[in-house]
Amino acid sequence: MPDSTPIATAERITGGVHVDRRHDSAHKHVTGEAVYIDDIREPAGLLHVYLGLSDRPHAKLLSLDLSKVKSAPGVVRVLTSADIPGTNDVSCMGRHDEPLFADDLIEYAGQPLFAVAAETRELARRAARLAVAEYEDLDPVLTTAKARETGTVVFPPMTLKRGDAAEAIASAPRRLEGRIAIGGQDHFYLEGQIAMAVPGEDDEVLVHSSTQHPSEVQHIVAHVLSIPANAVSIEVRRMGGAFGGKETQANLFAATAALVAKKTGRAAKLRPDRDDDMVITGKRHDFEVDYSVGFDDEGRIKGVDFLFAARCGFAADLSGPVTDRALFHCDNTYFYEAVHAQSLPLKTNTVSNTAFRGFGGPQGMVAAERIIEEIAYAVGKDPLEIRKLNFYGEAGRDVTPYHQTVEDNIAPELVADLEARSDYQARRAAIREHNAKGGYLRKGIALTPVKFGISFTATQYNQAGALVHVYTDGSVHLNHGGTEMGQGLYVKVAQVVAEEFQIDIDKVRITATTTGKVPNTSATAASSGADLNGKAAQVAAHTIKERLIGFAVENWGVPREQVVFLPNRVRIGNQEIPFADLVRTAYMARIQLSSTGFYKTPEIHWDRAAGSGKPFYYFSYGAAAAEVTVDTLTGEYRVDRVDILHDVGKSLNPALDRGQVEGGFVQGMGWLTMEELWWDQRGHLRTHAPSTYKIPACSDRPKIFNVHLLENSPNRKDTIYRSKAVGEPPLMLGMSVLHAISDAVASVAGYQRCPRIDPPATPEKVLAAIEALLEQVSPP
Ligand code: MTE
Ligand code: HPA
Ligand code: MOS
Repeated sequence: MPDSTPIATAERITGGVHVDRRHDSAHKHVTGEAVYIDDIREPAGLLHVYLGLSDRPHAKLLSLDLSKVKSAPGVVRVLTSADIPGTNDVSCMGRHDEPLFADDLIEYAGQPLFAVAAETRELARRAARLAVAEYEDLDPVLTTAKARETGTVVFPPMTLKRGDAAEAIASAPRRLEGRIAIGGQDHFYLEGQIAMAVPGEDDEVLVHSSTQHPSEVQHIVAHVLSIPANAVSIEVRRMGGAFGGKETQANLFAATAALVAKKTGRAAKLRPDRDDDMVITGKRHDFEVDYSVGFDDEGRIKGVDFLFAARCGFAADLSGPVTDRALFHCDNTYFYEAVHAQSLPLKTNTVSNTAFRGFGGPQGMVAAERIIEEIAYAVGKDPLEIRKLNFYGEAGRDVTPYHQTVEDNIAPELVADLEARSDYQARRAAIREHNAKGGYLRKGIALTPVKFGISFTATQYNQAGALVHVYTDGSVHLNHGGTEMGQGLYVKVAQVVAEEFQIDIDKVRITATTTGKVPNTSATAASSGADLNGKAAQVAAHTIKERLIGFAVENWGVPREQVVFLPNRVRIGNQEIPFADLVRTAYMARIQLSSTGFYKTPEIHWDRAAGSGKPFYYFSYGAAAAEVTVDTLTGEYRVDRVDILHDVGKSLNPALDRGQVEGGFVQGMGWLTMEELWWDQRGHLRTHAPSTYKIPACSDRPKIFNVHLLENSPNRKDTIYRSKAVGEPPLMLGMSVLHAISDAVASVAGYQRCPRIDPPATPEKVLAAIEALLEQVSPP
């Protein structure tokens, strides 16, 4: 296994690890030159595809008259489930519960029924509207409440338990219980779902797909077309954002484009409008969490019980692992002496919900933080004190509800550090003083921690492959199984390879992810892209480097230690030669200059039935302190200041990691405060465009925004150069804003009651919470 300590030379190559390095496409993102799938030069004869959708949430499809669609101008082909040569299924993980085109049973409003291919996108789009469907309506299950009555699940529930929670709660000095409803979230990637398929020789097809999971798209396309996987190539150079929304949701679009391409022999592109994209694709799961907790007079938790009911939609998709991850994070940074937690992944006649940054973890943590807040009001203390009192600690207070020991707990120090840096106590006192004066503008402050488990909980996904070629001019071609969605994975992995060979990063060519170069990959997800692919690429580069060293030893007759890779050159004995010269000489001696690399995460294992194991290799930590001002007459608020301290281990690229922290925080804040999904009684999503679905804008950013990466905190595990995963954890820092709003709201009732604001804390909800509090303390 290669060494993870960079070579300690005074000289540095440009673009090795641990340095700020711009995103390889930053300049192209800014100038608009970056090529997304819709920007690829269109092949001659390209057909444009559009989807026809169901209008009903739950119905039998009695008939589907497509004659007007077929005769519409420009239409070349119309395809339904009857035209699928293979299996009518785009479900992930082989669950076979998600048809490409519904034919008999309709399970959500917006479910695709057919595809129409036409000469232009506009003609395809117009034609798709001309279908006439006859339905026999069935009783739809649209809400979690109704799903709880029905009780149908899309995946077997999971239970975590340690100790006797019921007994611990019953015998605790104090008790409370409640329910929190947590809203969902649309991914709102800038580049929507898209696929372009190009038919090849015989049964072959190449699909450009905006996907986080090329290997799964490959398998789906193969099954739908009834061809072997080796006939299908999936390629993706970059996505314009994904956020989990392209882990499985790209399947349907890629399969449709591929089907049209194979049926017509012409290239085919499918790019739905934003509205249709929002209607057709799954989102973050909304949850209803029932909790009951027993605690002592100090506020220390004795026992806790959770039921996590999630609205999963009509199919399983990733709802099993998502609801599992909610349970894995129902502790956040806190030790529960006794705990019982259960998931309830409910089936509903709504779109099938899916992965979204944090993957259920955020919902688990929001529930944990609600409990902390409730206890704080019950015992009359600052929630921060209750947090500290319940942190994981020494042996005896270090075991999670899933029986993994927390070995790397830095939450106490990290929170103390942020408390001091952000001047939390003095500002809190000043805010109390401000609010004591009355007035309609109230201020609030909150400091919330984050602990996030790193690894896919399905152990088999924690593997990655890479492919590295060194050409005889000394330039390097890099490929790996990870996908680029804006997070900067490509440049991080290139930095690793540059570091390994000690060559400048501009000598390393970053290339598009394709199933033809690295097979059987996992989704780029669970924040583990750099951990997995970075290591795999390091292994590949290291293998070539070892061959070069072996060759130099033999060719120049020097001991191994005398072959040293210096920036862009190699010292062999007492001579130095350029890297490219060594490579060329090695080639002449027939040394293989290409290698694959493979990595699998060590130590992890998980037994779901037993609810026990070590699902996570390590944890990433962070904390945020937010200050807000709430207008108590309108419920509107503004975020005045946010201080963040986040742990990225020894960063591969601090500039990119800072970007992930800032972006993640804002996305989390948006989820918990302003983004609201709304389905009407007919099961139609009414918030399907930016006009009705509000994501944070530039003007919503904190007015003061201090973001720091924790220093001197190398990962204790042997990850790639001791870095830590950063993609998802910062999203949960957004909880600080929700709790700061809550703190401001509580002031209207003299901090006597817990406001219990269920996210998203839209101005409407904030106002309702204020009115509810005022009524409680002085009933009319
Ligand atoms: N950052 C950007 N800019 N765009 C994205 O789509 N996705 C997030 C996160 N950060 C995302 C992002 C999600 S959900 C994950 S799992 C990780 O990036 C995936 O990339 P990584 O594993 O390489 O960190
Ligand atoms: N995280 C993200 N994506 C996933 C996971 C996970 O734990 N499991 C399967 N897909
Ligand atoms: Mo991220 S939700 O794991 O794609």
